Amino acid sequence: MQPRISRTISAGAYADPSFSTAVIDWQQSHGRHALPWQNTRDAYRVWLSEIMLQQTQVTAVIPYYQKFLTSFPDVDALANASSEQVMSHWSGLGYYTRARNLHQCARRVVAEYGGKFPSDPELLADLPGIGRSTAAAISAFSYGTRAAILDGNVKRVFARVFGVDGYPGSKPVEDQLWRRAVDLLPLDGIERYTQGLMDLGATLCTRSRPDCSRCPLAERCVALATDRVDLLPVRKPKKAVPQRQTAMLVVVDQGHVLLEQRPDSGIWGGLLSLPEVDALAPADIDDENDSTVFKQRLEQALAPFGVPVSCARLTPFSHVFTHFKLQISPYEVRLSRRLDRVGQDSHVWYPLQGLADAPLPAPVKKLLLALFRDEDLFASARTAR
Ligand code: ADE
Repeated sequence: MQPRISRTISAGAYADPSFSTAVIDWQQSHGRHALPWQNTRDAYRVWLSEIMLQQTQVTAVIPYYQKFLTSFPDVDALANASSEQVMSHWSGLGYYTRARNLHQCARRVVAEYGGKFPSDPELLADLPGIGRSTAAAISAFSYGTRAAILDGNVKRVFARVFGVDGYPGSKPVEDQLWRRAVDLLPLDGIERYTQGLMDLGATLCTRSRPDCSRCPLAERCVALATDRVDLLPVRKPKKAVPQRQTAMLVVVDQGHVLLEQRPDSGIWGGLLSLPEVDALAPADIDDENDSTVFKQRLEQALAPFGVPVSCARLTPFSHVFTHFKLQISPYEVRLSRRLDRVGQDSHVWYPLQGLADAPLPAPVKKLLLALFRDEDLFASARTAR
């Protein structure tokens, strides 16, 4: 079957034959030519290598690729293998979905295509584990199909050479890069061009410390001309971090502070920390109704330990965890008299002098040490409620 994509010869907005010529010439003289999956048109071998190389470096892939081929020399052998055999051959390569997809893909190629990988990138991209870029690479290397690749390395090359602002993982930027990738395809020499783009991204136009002095595209590189090589491609924008609120109670009595053992699971699991009550936003606590709610929560939480007679707000601060930001509103609470702690093994009156060595979360320890090392800071941080 003729590959569908090769029938259309593009002359799109970004067409520029000198680009592909520069890449092809460079690949010929400076690219990689002796990787184990090169110099073959066996689609099974090409496919296997492209799947292994999706998220793994060449040097890590080579021994796995060779062992895989020894055990499963063709797509029939792989399709007939058990899942356990396939997984054990993949073990150590990581991203195990790739191995499950690989096995399913082999079975489909045998069942649907009689064991011969299709040449049409669109048909390849319909198989498990094969995306648009991988389909194009398999088709180009195995059948000489004129199809565009756009993996992470190639995105980096294009983003720099063409000075593409915007995160390449976003749909509009990615679409723009795909249009460029298609328009820039050479009429001849697709294998060398495809390998050249991969080699450039892997060896010269690297994420850190790119070697622009040896790059065949340096003269036309917008990032280099505008001193933005370090800034392009634009990094993934950070997601807004969810916020949580808590109120921490600093209850001090006779040179001791009340601490609570945290549950083993969850944040600060197993450490001691300050007792907490569900917080209202600090601003809300000034509101009369909310203030009453807060006092009720406070009295309830401290009932086993004494009766609160004063509660002073300290300076709020926040602590950033991997997945959220905790806004902490600390309060200094005085009790009228300390009650015996009956059945309150989760709480302890901890001597202030021992706080430096206490098993406390870092921000809590910092707060307590600041409070009890420097009484002036404590006083100025406090606002009467
Ligand atoms: N990364 C993805 N495909 C590759 C290939 N064929 N050669 C080298 N690195 C690659």
